Order: sequence, then structure tokens, then C-alpha cells
Amino acid sequence: MRIFSGIRPTGNIHLGNYLGAIKQWIALQETNECVFCIVDLHAITTPYNPKELQKNILDAAAIYLAAGVNPEKSIIFTQSSVKEHAELGWLLGTITPMGELGRMTQFKEKSKQHKDYINAGLFNYPVLMTADILLYKGKAVPVGKDQEQHVELARTIAKKFNQKFGSPRGEAGKVFDEPETILPKAGAKIMSLQDPKKKMSKSDDPKNYISLFDSPEDITKKIMAATTDSGKEIIYNVTKKPGISNLLTIYSLITDRSVEDIQREFVKKSYSDFKKSLANVLINYLEPFRRKQKELQTRDIYVKEILNKGASRAKIIAETTMKEVREKMGLA
Ligand code: AMP
Ligand code: TRP
Repeated sequence: MRIFSGIRPTGNIHLGNYLGAIKQWIALQETNECVFCIVDLHAITTPYNPKELQKNILDAAAIYLAAGVNPEKSIIFTQSSVKEHAELGWLLGTITPMGELGRMTQFKEKSKQHKDYINAGLFNYPVLMTADILLYKGKAVPVGKDQEQHVELARTIAKKFNQKFGSPRGEAGKVFDEPETILPKAGAKIMSLQDPKKKMSKSDDPKNYISLFDSPEDITKKIMAATTDSGKEIIYNVTKKPGISNLLTIYSLITDRSVEDIQREFVKKSYSDFKKSLANVLINYLEPFRRKQKELQTRDIYVKEILNKGASRAKIIAETTMKEVREKMGLA
């Protein structure tokens, strides 16, 4: 099965991105053909610094590699280096109802967040995301919960394309499969450390999230300062104890232990004991990420080479799809 996923290179990829998306990729690449993209064209729909974008792309690539994406197996590349993304994005825009785009939660949230930056690119964001997936005829898309709605829209657009331009031969006449979302069983929505009712987000103040490259001191500081709930017990209860429940989820995913098992260990212990232990667990878990990042920072050429090779492999697939799409749409 061909799998496609992507992350915006915004410079502070966090634990939510890792647990919601990247961690799934590593398992999926063992038995599937995976394409993992650094979506720079998506990153520029919200305010950004052009001088930092290239560095952020290399950082994102370092995270993919440090997390265990294998460039021999999976394709890793930068979206803008394969021009067909923009081309297919334009073409699919012509069959996407504006009403559908206006309903998108992410568009509404981001427009509220950046009131003076509500651009057409932000509105069309899910169309480009659909193009990303369909360009590779991706059948499944491992993402966190917040992206489920976008993948649903990709299904709608794929269906529409097939109806309008596919041959009338049922399944056999289909140009695109309708892509499925793959959500992790736990961790599809990691919450903010300061406000556990909100998802962990890159655009918030850094004390709300753990970046995968945070120093041990920062990790300790952020975890110790994380909002907890009234009461003293360390028990999982999302409504009554959203803060502790979020920390328990993180603990469980990082250690591969069940939440019950962790609860048992911390019966009669304090929030502070629990947080200290979580901070230690995270520091150890993220140590290879920091190490690998440091190493890759001195090996820009090597990382760029991986991205170039990935782009060449991606281009072969993308060009084949575009040839078919142009013919079906009467453009060739
Ligand atoms: P983005 O930062 O929006 O580029 O997100 C990259 C990937 O991380 C997407 O698959 C998101 O669904 C996922 N993701 C982002 N924030 C979270 C979160 N707080 N919890 C779980 N997954 C997340
Ligand atoms: N929109 C995704 C996010 O914000 C990133 C993304 C772009 C993506 N294109 C994609 C994810 C295609 C999966 C598939 O997280």
C-alpha cells in the first residue's frame, strides 16, 4: 500500500507531531511504500521568516531521520522541489466547492489566530494537501486527529474527480483511490502543557509544548510547570483531570507501558514525583534526537543529498500521475 504524510517545517516540531504522526510512520514503512514530505508550500500560508525556511526544512529532515525514517526505504523530500504539487493543487481547486473549504476547522482557527494574514493560500490549504496525497495515489494517510477533516475532504475531491473525469467503468475506471486516515490508537491529540483543554500546538508559546530538540533543562522546566488538576491522585480521567491524563498518555506512549501500570506505580506518590519521573523518561527518550540533530547540523550536504534523491524518486511518480490527469482533464 502507498502511504503519504507530511509535516510543515515550522522550526519547532513537537511531541504532539511525533506521537500523532511520525511515530506511526516508522512502523508503517516496514511493510508499505511510504512517501514523507516536508510541506514548505503549506508552511508559508501562515506568517513565517523567509530567511529561516531553509534551516527549518533541514531541521524537519533531521527529525524524520532521527526518529527512524529510513531514506533507503521511504521517500523523504521537500514539497516545493516537485512542481507537480502546485500544478495538481490548481487543477483540483477547480472541482472543489468553496463551501467545503469554508467549513474547515483549521482555516477558521488560523484565520482567527492571524487576522491580518487571511490569504487565499490558507483557504486553499486542504486542496494542496489533497494534491499531495493524490499525486502519489496515496491510499492511507497517517496523521493526528486535527488533520482528519482534511483527509475527509481529500476523499470527497478524489470521488468528484473520478466522477467527472474517470472512465465510466466503476472501480476500474477510477483515477484515484479515496485515501483513508490512519490515526494512532493513543496520542492522536496530545494536549498543551499549560492548557490541557487545547491541543499542543507549534504556534503557541514554547512552554506549551516539548520540542523534540529541547534541552534536558527545558524539558524538566516545562514538565514541572505543566498544569495539573485539583486533587492529588495520579489517575486517568480526561474530564476531571485533563492535565494529568495528558501527562499519563505521554508517559505511556514514551515508555510503551499501559496507563494502568503507570498509575499503579504512582499510587500514593505526589504530582511532583510523577512529573520528575516523566521529565527523566522524556529526557532519555529524546536524547538520541538531540544527538542526531547536532550530528546532522554539521552534515548539511548529506541531508540535502537525501532530500534531492527523494525528490528525484518522487518526481517519477508525480510526473506519471500528472500525465494521466492532464489527459483526463483535456489539457493534453
Ligand atoms: P503540523 O504541525 O500541523 O504540520 O502537523 C504535523 C502532524 O502532526 C499532523 O499529522 C498533525 O495531525 C500532527 N499533530 C499536530 N499537533 C498534534 C497534537 N497536538 N497531537 C497529535 N498530533 C498532532
Ligand atoms: N496539513 C498537514 C498538517 O498541518 C500537513 C500536510 C500537508 C499533510 N500535506 C499533507 C499531511 C498530506 C498528510 C498528507 O499537519
